[in-house]
Amino acid sequence: MDVDALARLRSPAGEAALASAAALVERGSTAADPLAAATALRAAGFAPDLASAALTQVVLRRRAEAKFGVDAHQMFFTRAGLEQATRRVVADRRAARLGAHLAAAGVARVTDLGCGIGADALAFARSGLAVFAVDADPAAAAMAQANGEALGLADRLDVRCADAASVDLSDVDAVFCDPARRDSGRGRRIFDPATYSPPWSFVVGLADSVPTTVLKLAPGIDHSLIPAAAEAEWVSVDGDVVEATVWCGPLATAPRRATVVRGSAVHELTGTGEVTAPVARVRRYLFDPDGAVVRSHLVAEFSTIVDGTLADPRIAYVFADAPARTPFGRCFEVIEELPFPLKQLRSALRTRGIGRLEIRKRGVAVEPDRLRRALRLSGGAEATLVLTRVRERPTALLCRIAGNSAPPPGLRAT
Ligand SMILES: C[S@@+](CC[C@H](N)C(=O)[O-])C[C@H]1O[C@@H](n2cnc3c(N)ncnc32)[C@H](O)[C@@H]1O
Repeated sequence: MDVDALARLRSPAGEAALASAAALVERGSTAADPLAAATALRAAGFAPDLASAALTQVVLRRRAEAKFGVDAHQMFFTRAGLEQATRRVVADRRAARLGAHLAAAGVARVTDLGCGIGADALAFARSGLAVFAVDADPAAAAMAQANGEALGLADRLDVRCADAASVDLSDVDAVFCDPARRDSGRGRRIFDPATYSPPWSFVVGLADSVPTTVLKLAPGIDHSLIPAAAEAEWVSVDGDVVEATVWCGPLATAPRRATVVRGSAVHELTGTGEVTAPVARVRRYLFDPDGAVVRSHLVAEFSTIVDGTLADPRIAYVFADAPARTPFGRCFEVIEELPFPLKQLRSALRTRGIGRLEIRKRGVAVEPDRLRRALRLSGGAEATLVLTRVRERPTALLCRIAGNSAPPPGLRAT
């Protein structure tokens, strides 16, 4: 959507088209037949381009609920802008932390370089900061401004269309930058920082100009690229690692942090990211640490919490003698080791009547869905199969979620 299309959507006719499109989507008409929905809007007197823009917007708003809750229905999105936008729970946490730091320093302004549709900029404004935001894409900048107005935050939000490199940083209190990380041509995810926009050299150099800088980076970022004195925080939401946040200069309070958000609860683990957990045998309970713990290299710190050890120095499964409830990982009881070769594994699972199998793996080149098909499971029992390496040896561990009742029929407890 371009700036003109956004302006049309925000006009009285656009608002009416959005309301009619929302009613159609509510009734399920677009999912069943998008063409019929567009025809219905045109029949109601809306111009074809307005009808189509309104329908697209309403569908995006629905999708955006997962990130923004009810606010989504007042906001404007492009498909790419929504995909790249920070979900509200994460943006609000970041804004609160930055806001608290700036308040302690007696200042309250942040400059957002590449604001997209404005999810972070809005969170900063909501936290009380005055936000100056730019985006090189005119439509993104217009949407960020429109979203500020729609959510009643416009008085704290000044959005311009500009290249981040053109912004004068000589008098700013803090900088936030969330570079675009996609190949705009094909929409693929990019993990190579050399292809970031603004470019990586610009992004990583920001803290030289403004020490109080926060960067949002892809969770796959290599630790070697993180500036030495900065704090790197990996954030997961309901099991998915969504980003790495780099807190530069005075904002850094720990070398590495894993933040695990589950529903409304937030749990944090900190450490150096340089400690290796002790290695021992496979023990009765296996913990699969949350992705934020693994990415932040805090598996050793996690092992201490559950009094655990690794079975292989390079594999992030943690073993312990006792189960534990922890937000930082899932706990399984190891029932027995099964043979790894496919035929023997298939036969072992058949014998145990396992028809439903969750497959988890680390350190072995197995494609779980393909393996599940090849296993031709049958039976009424369910279990978890953990495929891993134990001191270089491929190992298959039959497990169940710790705390479950009796093992599936045919399973032998060790
Ligand atoms: C990942 S998005 C930002 C998302 C935003 N933080 C949010 O949560 O909504 C990155 C944005 O940077 C913008 N961008 C890329 N290169 C830029 C540049 N050189 N100057 C300004 N903006 C740029 C893109 O247009 C894109 O909207």
